[in-house]
Amino acid sequence: MMVNESTVVLALETSCDETAASVVMGGNDVLSSIVSSQIDIHARFGGVVPEVASRAHLESLIPVVNAAVDEAGILPERIDAVAATAGPGLIGALLVGVSAAKALALVWERPFIGVNHLEAHLYAGLLDDPTLEFPLIVLLVSGGHTMIIEMRGHGDYTILGRTIDDAAGEAYDKVARYLNVGYPGGPVIDQLASQGNSSVVEFPRAMMHDGLDVSFSGLKTSVINYVRKNPDVANVDIAASFQDAVVDVLCAKTIKAAQQVGARGIVLGGGVSANSALRAEMTRRGNDAGFRVALPSRAMCTDNAAMIAAAAWHRLKADGPMNLSCGAYPNLKLSDVPR
Ligand code: KG4
Ligand code: ZN
Repeated sequence: MMVNESTVVLALETSCDETAASVVMGGNDVLSSIVSSQIDIHARFGGVVPEVASRAHLESLIPVVNAAVDEAGILPERIDAVAATAGPGLIGALLVGVSAAKALALVWERPFIGVNHLEAHLYAGLLDDPTLEFPLIVLLVSGGHTMIIEMRGHGDYTILGRTIDDAAGEAYDKVARYLNVGYPGGPVIDQLASQGNSSVVEFPRAMMHDGLDVSFSGLKTSVINYVRKNPDVANVDIAASFQDAVVDVLCAKTIKAAQQVGARGIVLGGGVSANSALRAEMTRRGNDAGFRVALPSRAMCTDNAAMIAAAAWHRLKADGPMNLSCGAYPNLKLSDVPR
């Protein structure tokens, strides 16, 4: 199969709590991107309930796919390949998208591509700026992952640093839960922090001078201990001081990695890269150090299917179609290609 600028991919994303579908042409021309969030459904439990997520995907997926095809303004016949996130993620949630995509591929007689969700987050930044040149340093910060990745080319990655405990988004969510300010914690803390003073508390910057790994579990504990001992300090100042520590460490390590590999640019990806302080600080400090810093639009930072379609287009071009027996893999690693 010829894969080129006019190849149209329909992609589905159901790895966690967003049901998403998107139509992308040529790997970077987003014709539509529909995201139906389950945040309201899970908020009362304070986190994602796997079985509830699977059932919600089952209800939303067909309407979301129809909306994506409608908005793209194409007939289904124009779709050249069908992709879905094959992992990592919640197994019951993944199975909904993978099964639906295979069914569509089968009836439309089109190739199927199972996509690695982590690889797709790397492509979100490239989607918004296709002029970026390799090697790139990608900071991937989400609810489940915190990684500093060297991307030397399509499909060519090395993880240079990662969290040794909690993911950055997990730290936001846990601190927000402790402060009782809402779910998911990232956007809430971001908002509170914008009204607070970040120099009120000097929270620890763990592992600041030890290589490229990071750690957020100690920071979370020190926020909790501080709030317990100082119940009168305003939440906005706690949020700003906590965020300052997270952003400081992420910027320092990412720029260090970019210097080590002689990167042509720094790209952010994953839900936490929607954070306003991280975006501003990484741009300022990265530019000061001589690096171009690419920030995907906020919609491309959090889970969406356009990034799945972009990654699928590159996989299809490099490896050809995948077998319909491709599985769903809850613990897929960045370097794993689903099969
Ligand atoms: O990439 P994503 O949508 O899902 C995963 O694959 O995990 O990331 C979700 C995470 C959550 O932990 C959420 O609190 C965090 O991203 N997040 C933010 C912001 N928006 C979302 N964290 C900090 N600031 C934000 N503005
Ligand atoms: Zn994600």
